Amino acid sequence: INNSFFSTEILRWFRENGRDLPWRETRDPYAIWLSEIILQQTRIAQGWEYWERFVQTYPKVEDLAAASEDDVLKLWQGLGYYSRARNLHTAAKQIVALGDFPNTLEGIKSLKGVGDYTAAAIGSFAFGIPAAVVDGNVYRVLSRYFGIDTPINSTQGKKEFAALAQSLLPASDAASYNQGMMDFGAIQCTPQSPKCLLCPLAETCEALRCGRVEELPVKNKT
Ligand code: ADE
Repeated sequence: INNSFFSTEILRWFRENGRDLPWRETRDPYAIWLSEIILQQTRIAQGWEYWERFVQTYPKVEDLAAASEDDVLKLWQGLGYYSRARNLHTAAKQIVALGDFPNTLEGIKSLKGVGDYTAAAIGSFAFGIPAAVVDGNVYRVLSRYFGIDTPINSTQGKKEFAALAQSLLPASDAASYNQGMMDFGAIQCTPQSPKCLLCPLAETCEALRCGRVEELPVKNKT
């Protein structure tokens, strides 16, 4: 689907409503990577404090790589999912061994603890790589706007949504588009009580037209 209306509206909405988050003010891939690992299973308000602590304690990836695992785990204390902290430390040593932060999607994905979502986020924010992020927010927004009821946790659904998300991405501003999708899903097109009355995409939203907003996205029982 080539729907430049959708992408244009997401970018416009983001300019007017996007959240001011400190990791959006840097292009330093190390600081951005830290934020994405911290935010993987953590709310923004809590993640914010930890991100500031990490960038202050370990301003450069060399500092993190040289730290002891105990110190890294101590700084992580309270965030949970400690495998994230261990992977973070391992990946810091990987990056130092590489000599520089990897600047391709494949290179970024080769870091311990970095999957498709995190690689697309880091790649687009730090390097402008045109890779679309696909997460729960993106599934929700796309399934509703385009009226897609393929289960989001099926093989077919994952393929379909990834391809659609990628086709909608404006290559010239991948970072803003990805951040816009994250924020639009978190603020506007929310799981419960989405703000359809005040939505800039309401007139062309398939789920709203069909009265199916609350039914989408569809998820298979596992
Ligand atoms: N969740 C994951 N990555 C994020 C980001 N960069 N900004 C806000 N929320 C996020």
